[in-house]
Amino acid sequence: MTTISTAPVAPLLLSLFAEADAASPTSSPAFASISVDERVRLMRSKADYRDLYARLKDFALPVSRETGRLLYMLAVATGARSIVEFGTSFGLSTLHLAAALRDNGGGRLITSEFEESKVARAKANLAAGGLSDLVEFREGDALLTLAGDLPDRIDLLLLDGAKSLYLDILKLVEDRLRPGAVIVADNADHCPEYLEYIEDGESGYTSMSFTDDVELTIRNR
Ligand SMILES: C[S@@+](CC[C@H](N)C(=O)[O-])C[C@H]1O[C@@H](n2cnc3c(N)ncnc32)[C@H](O)[C@@H]1O
Repeated sequence: MTTISTAPVAPLLLSLFAEADAASPTSSPAFASISVDERVRLMRSKADYRDLYARLKDFALPVSRETGRLLYMLAVATGARSIVEFGTSFGLSTLHLAAALRDNGGGRLITSEFEESKVARAKANLAAGGLSDLVEFREGDALLTLAGDLPDRIDLLLLDGAKSLYLDILKLVEDRLRPGAVIVADNADHCPEYLEYIEDGESGYTSMSFTDDVELTIRNR
């Protein structure tokens, strides 16, 4: 039996994904009033990401169920003990990654989120999953909270915060990524700067678009 497939994590994920499906941002008048072009501009802006995510603070915006499962599988397959996550939200991806740490025998997951109310919800969800002891929450802009005090060796990095910052966040942790470390970047199609860097053979990565949503990358050995 695995942590991801048994109580309390399995039923918790079922109910959190169902809640997320029922409350989509497009059902919010505040969000629906923003034109599609403006949404794309905000997503790709290095200046206005705070404003965008403040408007989205009541929404879980989780990775897909499939991406969550992929995260769990990659973390288990690589024997990850040290994970960094950019973009906690309500903690659905965090639950998958922390479940993998539990099944790997323990470890440390550093996760970053600047919306205070989201940090509180994520903490409650990780507690409900019995996984709080594996997770360190860093509240504030990840550009600051992930700028220091990182483990010497990082096995897996999830990029799922402001799309315009993926390359900046990668650069913060890059020298700690162990050879063979895995990077999962969600919605990387909105991150041309990140893709250009990661796909450049000189940067030290091997990368591919894994699904429409996910860019999957490994740090070369
Ligand atoms: C797509 S959601 C993350 C979903 C989460 N990974 C999951 O699967 O449950 C993105 C989150 O990143 C947070 N975020 C965006 N930019 C950030 C930044 N620069 N620092 C900290 N948090 C940020 C947003 O507030 C939002 O909650």
